[in-house]
Amino acid sequence: MIALLQILAATCLADSPPAKPKIQADHTAYEAITGESADEEKTVWDDFYKERHHIFGKEPVSFLKDNIEMIPRGKAFVPAMGEGRNALYLAKRGFEVDGNDISEVAVDKTLAEAKTAHVTLQTTVADLNKYNYPENHYDLIVVSLFYQKSLLPRFKKALKKGGFILFYNRVDTHDKETKTSPDDFLVKPAELKESMKDFQIKTYREYVDQGFHVVGLLARKP
Ligand SMILES: C[S@@+](CC[C@H](N)C(=O)[O-])C[C@H]1O[C@@H](n2cnc3c(N)ncnc32)[C@H](O)[C@@H]1O
Repeated sequence: MIALLQILAATCLADSPPAKPKIQADHTAYEAITGESADEEKTVWDDFYKERHHIFGKEPVSFLKDNIEMIPRGKAFVPAMGEGRNALYLAKRGFEVDGNDISEVAVDKTLAEAKTAHVTLQTTVADLNKYNYPENHYDLIVVSLFYQKSLLPRFKKALKKGGFILFYNRVDTHDKETKTSPDDFLVKPAELKESMKDFQIKTYREYVDQGFHVVGLLARKP
């Protein structure tokens, strides 16, 4: 518990997302770090969102905005959506959106924002490691600032043939100035691309966004 809280505090001070470690199969980030129950992870994130508002911003991630014209409207899934910046953006653009997060506080905030914006979202409060994923169901999955390699096969299965998956994550640059998290919590350059080589990669970019080295990948299920 203390370990994860220290990470959250450090990353928030640096205006960086809480870090994601390498995950053992079927274990959440919290369990991987602390060895304690995954239920604790929900509490940690709930407390995080009670104290902070729009810490990751209100705008959708740049890579989603830059690529949206390539993605036909349809059913979208936004796992670990936080306060819903990407989910709300998609709903406003006419996508039928299922949003998820382990934090009920974050999901409630997203729903309040959806009401204000007069858009509808279907939401679940659930741990993605225990989530009941539909198969061949989504036209788009957007994964932002949440990289857990063990979940990739489930995301891939949940997509329809021809469906798109978009990732946006911070990169491990080994640069002390831009580094805000321990090594294990960041995506290694080209790691995502390698993981998605069974898909058609439409756009891949490593770039600097708001002072952070990030990677964006848009791929299509063959
Ligand atoms: C860094 S935030 C990113 C939020 C959002 N995707 C964004 O880009 O603004 C990571 C999110 O993952 C959620 N999360 C962490 N572990 C999770 C899990 N096992 N299942 C579902 N959501 C989880 C957290 O509650 C948090 O909202």
